[in-house]
Amino acid sequence: MNLIRTSVFVLFALLLAACASPEPQEPPRSPAFGANGMVVSANPEATAVGLQILQEGGNAFDAAIAVKYMLSVTYPIAGNIGGGGFMVYRTAAGEVGSLDFRETAPAAAHRDMYLDEEGNLIDGLSRIGHLSAGVPGTVAGMEEAWERFGSLPFAQLIEPAIQVAENGHRVTAFNAEQSNRFQDEFAEVNRAPILFMKEGGWQEGDLLVQPELAETLRRIRDGGAAGFYTGETADLIVAEMQAGGGIITHEDLAAYRAVWRPTVSVDFGDYRIHSMPPSSSGGIAIAQLMLGSADFDFASLGHLTPETIHLMAELMRRVYADRATHLGDSDFFDVPFEMLLDPAYISARNADISMSAATPSSLIKEGEVERIESFETTHFSIVDGAGNAVSLTTTVNSFFGSKVMVQGAGFFLNNEMDDFAAAPGVPNQFGLVGGEANAIEPGKRMLSSMSPTIVERGGELFLVLGTPGGSTIITNVYQVLMNLLVHGLDLQQAVDAKKMHAQWLPDVITLEEGALDEAGQAALEALGHELRIIPQIGRMQAIQRLGDGSFKGVADYTRTGDSVARGF
Ligand code: GLY
Repeated sequence: MNLIRTSVFVLFALLLAACASPEPQEPPRSPAFGANGMVVSANPEATAVGLQILQEGGNAFDAAIAVKYMLSVTYPIAGNIGGGGFMVYRTAAGEVGSLDFRETAPAAAHRDMYLDEEGNLIDGLSRIGHLSAGVPGTVAGMEEAWERFGSLPFAQLIEPAIQVAENGHRVTAFNAEQSNRFQDEFAEVNRAPILFMKEGGWQEGDLLVQPELAETLRRIRDGGAAGFYTGETADLIVAEMQAGGGIITHEDLAAYRAVWRPTVSVDFGDYRIHSMPPSSSGGIAIAQLMLGSADFDFASLGHLTPETIHLMAELMRRVYADRATHLGDSDFFDVPFEMLLDPAYISARNADISMSAATPSSLIKEGEVERIESFETTHFSIVDGAGNAVSLTTTVNSFFGSKVMVQGAGFFLNNEMDDFAAAPGVPNQFGLVGGEANAIEPGKRMLSSMSPTIVERGGELFLVLGTPGGSTIITNVYQVLMNLLVHGLDLQQAVDAKKMHAQWLPDVITLEEGALDEAGQAALEALGHELRIIPQIGRMQAIQRLGDGSFKGVADYTRTGDSVARGF
């Protein structure tokens, strides 16, 4: 602990304490409890099928596969077979690892593919339409997970999703609203009207029947990953690409592989935090934030006070500057793991933090300013009675990805290519910039922020957590960890608590509405911070293992969406 810095912070805390109390929070909805298993996801049908599989004797991996496929039917905003994701796991025996089923750039992709003749980014080309799609990873990922850890027949895990696609489900208000938001984009990029386009708009309770998706899922049930990456589904994907100007080929699909990787793991007091390595930036960034936080007395600064927010923002902007420079797919770029995770490097990097003024991001590293637009992705956390734990985050990137539905196959393709640095220093939809490390190359995975995370205490499972939120995923996971491990909040409070976010560029602090009152905001502005207020940050789904070995499941009930925790 740096005592001099700590005492300066405490003085600053006293000066601001009077004007800094956060808005009172809504009383939290109740967590779920269970001794035999727990599922927390963003969708009621998905949570229900996960619980069902656990109750049928499946383990956490079986349940995760069933949840994943159900999300592709009932949560098409982000649940998918046309996208990818990451899984961090801990087995009952204590083995920890991760599975990377992130999308890859097609073989015909190249670093200038989104630039015009003058080298300027062509607006929207990496974000919407056929050219924005990477080669999907979900189906290969689920097959890998099942082959290594599954205990029930694969057909039993995917069949519930097939039945719901075939017979239909009632859309939630959230799903109806999101589908209605994108009617124009659906019409713009699809060559024929798609199932999700509806005259007069979707209403809560409308029945959504997806026969083509049911057939696609049947081909996966019967043929495994080959039933997606080859054969009729592959033909339909390639036909869609050729019709719409996309570049994914049969060879790209057949070549796709999910990859097992060691987690990025870091100690913080009595806790050991395991999260996702590249091709996600999440694990390294969270590790850097936790290592940096250990140098300061956050507990004395208080929860969600202006000085705590200032300090977190200062840590975050340094971490995101490292992200922009040093992080990319480690199969293609030499990521300096050792340096980035060295506590001495982190301390030195944070040594110039001042409590009396914000550090302009331009002094940390130069770049352009842009805004964060979109936050969709989805996370679920699962534990079984034996103690296996799965933390899985998955996405098609934006809401409904590229907005392109594969005609005849009934699923949306991702727009994950936007997560590459399409042009050096030019921000993507999350305002994130990058350079060489994250430049487009054939077969490479685009850098993600997804951060499925598992925490141990004393060598035992303690916490399983994750959230959607694009670039805010990292900082949201970090804040829930700090809320729980440092500020003494219980898990529901830690999840419900308002969040902040900073990411080097744009050089602003984003506050969730209600995080600070006007006086608190003025205190931050007086330090030189530009503030932006947004309605919602993230949608955390978390599970805590309690002292008696049972589980507490906490869904993020306070933010819009349909999150559900259920245990038994
Ligand atoms: N597409 C958002 C992410 O991977 O971070």
